[in-house]
Amino acid sequence: MPNPIKLLDPAYGCYVWPSAFVLSEYIWARRNLFRDKTIIEIGAGTSLPGFLCASLSPETHVILTDRPDVPQILENIHEGARLNGLIDSTENHKSEGDNKPLRQNVWIRGLKWGEMFLQCDDDHEEGLLKLIRDIEQSGKKLDWILGSDTFYDPKDFEDLIVTVAYILTYHSPNARFITSYQERSSKRSIQYLLDKWKLESRQIPLKSFDFDYDKYATSLSFAFDDKDESINEGRESTDTSEDDETNPLEKDSKKGNDLLSDHLDKAAYSASLQSIFLLEIRKSS
Ligand SMILES: C[S@@+](CC[C@H](N)C(=O)[O-])C[C@H]1O[C@@H](n2cnc3c(N)ncnc32)[C@H](O)[C@@H]1O
Repeated sequence: MPNPIKLLDPAYGCYVWPSAFVLSEYIWARRNLFRDKTIIEIGAGTSLPGFLCASLSPETHVILTDRPDVPQILENIHEGARLNGLIDSTENHKSEGDNKPLRQNVWIRGLKWGEMFLQCDDDHEEGLLKLIRDIEQSGKKLDWILGSDTFYDPKDFEDLIVTVAYILTYHSPNARFITSYQERSSKRSIQYLLDKWKLESRQIPLKSFDFDYDKYATSLSFAFDDKDESINEGRESTDTSEDDETNPLEKDSKKGNDLLSDHLDKAAYSASLQSIFLLEIRKSS
């Protein structure tokens, strides 16, 4: 079993959870639905689904968010963005005290669920309302909200759903929330919260996109920590045809395996994969 103390560490956004592979495989299988769209990932942590979306085309607008009160997580997202060629933090820019965005349409923001408005100081505010205002000023609406293993701690479930409901009600009614959900206890149903906040869900069967359990459960033959083999660089062509592209999640390396062994043993990982569901949540009609 995974060590529960590790799982409750506030830095639990700093490694890739099994749900992230499920959501990312879905995005890859349906990538034409995500390419060139405006996408927010909430509770992004290591941001695999978000980085994958950013790699689909230079026009895909990706907003990676996580809680601002654990700075290590946002720092980690910045580092992931740098490794994936989305921001440039060369020495020159570091000395200017900033990361230079290489893609104006990849944003990294602090967003705590349920926190609509956060006044940091006189001229600096954060929170959902500010983020929505910024998206509106860019002339866009959100097409997708992504969340991988965000239904983790039941005390956060309603804040999370309120955040999603607010976006769907007041900003982007046609958006969909796609979330990979690891069922850790049958007592943790979110249905009553969906009903309360007038949302409806449908389950996306993993077999509908041929999710390959064996790839992750037995071989664990994936890589995401090699700075020379970023997701962007893993794309072998710029073809837009889904059939001709190489899945960046297919790359064979032991490094991903080594990284995981620090955190979760393989048996636990395999068991986790079997308890993951994928849901599409929208405003009730
Ligand atoms: C189980 S981790 C999943 C991380 C990543 N999405 C993945 O699948 O690898 C849960 C994520 O939700 C974030 N999170 C937890 N509570 C939050 C809150 N109240 N507001 C915003 N993010 C939160 C954590 O920081 C963490 O990144």
